[in-house]
Amino acid sequence: MSELFVIPEDAKPYIVQQKYEQYTTVEQDTWKYLYDRRMQQLREHACQEYLEGISALGLTDEKMPVVERLNAVLQKRTRWMLLPVSGFLPGRAFFDLLAARVFPTTTYIRKSDSLEYTPEPDIFHDVFGHVPMHAHLVFADYLQAFADIARRVDNDADQERLGRLFWYTVEFGLIRQNGKLKLYGSGIISSHKEASNVIDGGCRILDFDLDRVLHTAVKVDELQPALFAIDSFQQIYDATREVRRVFKV
Ligand SMILES: [Fe+2]
Repeated sequence: MSELFVIPEDAKPYIVQQKYEQYTTVEQDTWKYLYDRRMQQLREHACQEYLEGISALGLTDEKMPVVERLNAVLQKRTRWMLLPVSGFLPGRAFFDLLAARVFPTTTYIRKSDSLEYTPEPDIFHDVFGHVPMHAHLVFADYLQAFADIARRVDNDADQERLGRLFWYTVEFGLIRQNGKLKLYGSGIISSHKEASNVIDGGCRILDFDLDRVLHTAVKVDELQPALFAIDSFQQIYDATREVRRVFKV
């Protein structure tokens, strides 16, 4: 984060503190259950960079993560940091933060009766799903470059097209590594159903193509029918030059 960075006014009402001592035993158990179940699949199917991020950040099934400790690691590795927030931010504030390498994260965890799915993000989606990739420099630079474009785009149609790029990379991205398909998008990483759908062949896999991504509508209420696989993280970072040209920013 730049030393000159000022938290955007419209993000301020959403900022909270992580009150670690207030997590209950049930909430710690929820983290452990979700972590263990996802890692069984991810050890084989997540990309190398994600698994390396898990290990660098010291994320384990033993305890829910402490945001300050994650920040100490991220600052050294990629100059990103997490900022605890109460929930979804307005789009502009969200991208202003990401463009400053600040990731707004929720710190609450889903209830034990809705382990499968939570419509709102929670610490499991945000930290377990997103943050390990932020420890990888090329991906971390991609996310910042994307956000810097997104914050400058001000009409609905362009925002929707850019949202598709976010969806098909940051949220549901796949990558080919050593001839195998691996997962890196947080929505697949953190969801057993979405990941199993990809692994079991229920989802069409297309080669990443910027134009096609920008024209492929997002499905939010069903398992993903088609997703895009990249060959390297450099590929999506390099694509941001073309994205700037397309959106004239
Ligand atoms: Fe997400």
